[in-house]
Amino acid sequence: MRNALNALADELRRLKDDGVKSVAVSDASLAALRAAVKVRGQVEFSAVARRDSTKLDLTPSPAPAESRRAEPAASPAQNAAGSARLPSSALPAPPVVVLPAGDKAARWAALRETVLNDPTCLAHARPGKKVVLGVGNLDARIMFVGEAPGADEEVQGEPFVGPAGQLLNRMIAGTGLKREDVYIGNIMNWRPEMPLGAGGIQAGNRPPTAEEMAYCLPYLRAQIEIVDPGLLVALGATAAQGLLGPGTFKALGEIRGQWREFQGKPLMVTYHPSYILRNPTNRSKRLIWEDFLKVMERTGLAVSEKQRGYFLG
Ligand code: URA
Repeated sequence: MRNALNALADELRRLKDDGVKSVAVSDASLAALRAAVKVRGQVEFSAVARRDSTKLDLTPSPAPAESRRAEPAASPAQNAAGSARLPSSALPAPPVVVLPAGDKAARWAALRETVLNDPTCLAHARPGKKVVLGVGNLDARIMFVGEAPGADEEVQGEPFVGPAGQLLNRMIAGTGLKREDVYIGNIMNWRPEMPLGAGGIQAGNRPPTAEEMAYCLPYLRAQIEIVDPGLLVALGATAAQGLLGPGTFKALGEIRGQWREFQGKPLMVTYHPSYILRNPTNRSKRLIWEDFLKVMERTGLAVSEKQRGYFLG
């Protein structure tokens, strides 16, 4: 049953990535699905396939024990507070960020202080969870931009530390760089809230709304201003929409692999690493890798024949 549900979820995600907006489900199927989900208590969408047919291994690695730790159950009061905040509606106007004078480290530290104490961010981070700012090398030539913190990130207070982050690290390693060489941020500074499930746990993630992204965008802009990278890489459709504006494209396939611009910086749009976690095929790895090759070339990184051939054949 678990495998069947995972396969169904993968297929639905694939259709969504391809731009399909709705699927017809009969009442009988819906009832069967409801029953199946109820039996499991919580639907997990996990990537399980492991293969090593390629030289650069982008198969999912198990999340560290710490990040897989079950979240403590929320108290009834926390549950009530959590559902009262759903969905994020009527956010205040986006913040106006004025960076102080000083070197990059001082300006970044000031920004961090502001973001971590932003009352709106704090109000939307669930009790005991963290507001998340980007991390990395303040002199990075490449800045990756993801969507929003997930379960692992809201615990650790750092972007891309869960399974998608492990994979991103390996993709970065494929370019010959290390995580510490680049800067990694998200559009959102908090994990978009969803109703809490059994035991007060938020089981899944939802994409942030346009309003939520608009609220957090000034903080991402400020990070771009401070780091001043040579280029940006948007990871996934939501990040790309957040940067390029709602309605810029219907399906990611329309613009992935193309250079766009954001805040005067070249912007490469590519798949989110979680797309590969859900579709760990050579074809999907090759597509994202081709975008990484373009990023390497534009950054002036040497590309070896071996690197050029990853995931071919
Ligand atoms: N996905 C994102 O887009 N950002 C993270 O920080 C983690 C997963």
